[in-house]
Amino acid sequence: MTEMNRQILLNRRPEGMPVEEDFKLVETELPELKDGEFLAKTIYLSVDPYMRGRMNDRKSYSEPFKLDEVIGGGTVSRVVQSKNPKFKEGDITVGMLGWQEYAISDGKGVRNGVPKGIPMSACLGVLGMPGMTGYFGLLDIAEPKDGETVVVSGAAGAVGSLVGQIAKIKGCRVIGTAGSDEKVNHIVNDLGFDAGLNYKTSQNYYKDLKELCPDGIDVYFDNVGGPMTDAAIALINTHARISICGQIALYNSEKAEEGPRFLWKLIEKQAKIEGFLVFQFVKKYKQAYQDLTQWVKEGKIQYRENITEGIENTPKAFIGMFHGENTGKQIVKVSEE
Ligand SMILES: NC(=O)c1ccc[n+]([C@@H]2O[C@H](COP(=O)([O-])OP(=O)(O)OC[C@H]3O[C@@H](n4cnc5c(N)ncnc54)[C@H](OP(=O)(O)O)[C@@H]3O)[C@@H](O)[C@H]2O)c1
Repeated sequence: MTEMNRQILLNRRPEGMPVEEDFKLVETELPELKDGEFLAKTIYLSVDPYMRGRMNDRKSYSEPFKLDEVIGGGTVSRVVQSKNPKFKEGDITVGMLGWQEYAISDGKGVRNGVPKGIPMSACLGVLGMPGMTGYFGLLDIAEPKDGETVVVSGAAGAVGSLVGQIAKIKGCRVIGTAGSDEKVNHIVNDLGFDAGLNYKTSQNYYKDLKELCPDGIDVYFDNVGGPMTDAAIALINTHARISICGQIALYNSEKAEEGPRFLWKLIEKQAKIEGFLVFQFVKKYKQAYQDLTQWVKEGKIQYRENITEGIENTPKAFIGMFHGENTGKQIVKVSEE
């Protein structure tokens, strides 16, 4: 009997906020394996905000997704059939095998094995790309010091929740911004942030942040961009560091945004602003992986995953991130562990 595969393809390029019609679910026959290949069944797949950029027909740091092709993205999968000696049936792998139930791979870019004692889904979150992003974006770009004030936007998400907790480990006072009272309670009461701001109910970001940061801001870790970033930069201290990780508030904008012209503030405060891509740190991932694994095992870092069930619900889970439906890392569970 021929095995069937279910895959999510890019149906059309989203205009503004993505909608379900931008994607389509198709059933295809799985081809025979060739020598050197293995068949992997997806257990978990990752939906990430950066994918929105790849849905546009614009060249950026990675190629745009092609129409009618499977959307690429991080996966944790089980090998179910193999003609590759390095991958045996039953092995659990971590790779970029995309939004599909099954994938055929020659093993390139696929890691065999997941850490023991930590759920395998963490390889897409705290021990995966978002984990590396938070670790290096904070420690290497912003270099937080004991006693400093750190503000993190998008604080209840995969990257932001981790950044705040690492900053606490480094002895900082940490304030997070997030889109609901539940999220603010979560970052303060579960994750140990010192305070939080619900940006959806705040009438004045500058005034509210100023109250929460009476000594000003030494480090601003930006996941969001837009008016929150304008407010944070207006409050920076001398020699502040601003780490530009993401600009999710702008990903669905159809026209170029204008904001306050804040560069004078960087001069006045002799501050540094730097954007980064997680991949620039690839040679140092091992160190981050070791530290994060240890902190998770010691309970110094808590992480939450927002798990949506079923490959067919992948577009919904992806779109949900732009409406703040996730707390922690958004993952889709495609099959049982
Ligand atoms: N530079 C890099 O290499 C790199 C790598 C990975 C991720 N990133 C970036 O890091 C950021 C966080 O990524 P993540 O994977 O951790 O996602 P995430 O924070 O887990 O999920 C996205 C969150 O963004 C918030 N959001 C959505 N629309 C918003 C808006 N218009 N204004 C303010 N907040 C909004 C939502 O929370 P609320 O309820 O709080 O609105 C949502 O839950 C993204 O900007 C992403 O592109 C960068």
